[in-house]
Amino acid sequence: MRIYQVKDYKEMSRKAANIISAQVIMKPDAVLGLATGSTPIGTYRQLTEWYQKGDLDFSEVRSVNLDEYKGLSADNDQSYAYFMGANLFDHVNIKPENTHIPNGLNEDIEGECKRYDAVISALGGVDLQLLGIGNNGHIGFNEPGEAFQTGTHCVKLTENTIAANARFFASMDDVPKFAYTMGVGNIMQARAILLVASGEAKAEAVYNSFFGPVTPRVPASILQFHQNVYLVADEAALSLCRANHCI
Ligand code: GLP
Repeated sequence: MRIYQVKDYKEMSRKAANIISAQVIMKPDAVLGLATGSTPIGTYRQLTEWYQKGDLDFSEVRSVNLDEYKGLSADNDQSYAYFMGANLFDHVNIKPENTHIPNGLNEDIEGECKRYDAVISALGGVDLQLLGIGNNGHIGFNEPGEAFQTGTHCVKLTENTIAANARFFASMDDVPKFAYTMGVGNIMQARAILLVASGEAKAEAVYNSFFGPVTPRVPASILQFHQNVYLVADEAALSLCRANHCI
């Protein structure tokens, strides 16, 4: 694992965008695994800026998103499909047909999970997977549990995650209770992984994930077994790692 310790959110965004750009420049038809949440927004903004300057070209890039709320359509402004349009896809020259997100409206859970796993396989797997981290250590929507899930599956969100995501909705009751997500197995198959974290609220999750025991109770801890992980985190997110002399 390579840890980039940066000053703040702005530097985290720039460094993460640097790594994604390097991937796209070296392999113009790269398959990017993309993430939502507030953490990658600055990264997407930086990528957009470099695209607008002519330094980046997404015309051959393919993408697969980690997850989507079950029950939300792509035009619902809280869906992850909508988020990706608003924060990246609508501002760069990625082809809509090259972008993939689980279909939150598919009621056939088994069918949707199989379909999405097949999409990832047909693309030849993910070259670089971008990840945020939940404050309970979740990645995508792989919540803490008894076992690591391998493929795409439908999850019941934990109270912690519903509460953390409630800020984007009118009320807690409006937050969907289920989501489709790539499994930990899908994530681990990515050829490289870039995890971004910012702020004190993530310090415990970052410390437990990268320096604690590998356990499904902290889903991101599995990343310790991946050969090619880049952690880009600011000083606040790395504060516990520093306090415990891990870095
Ligand atoms: C959601 C997403 C995750 C994301 C997490 C943290 O639960 N499914 O992919 O990492 O939120 O979000 P934030 O970056 O807003 O803290």
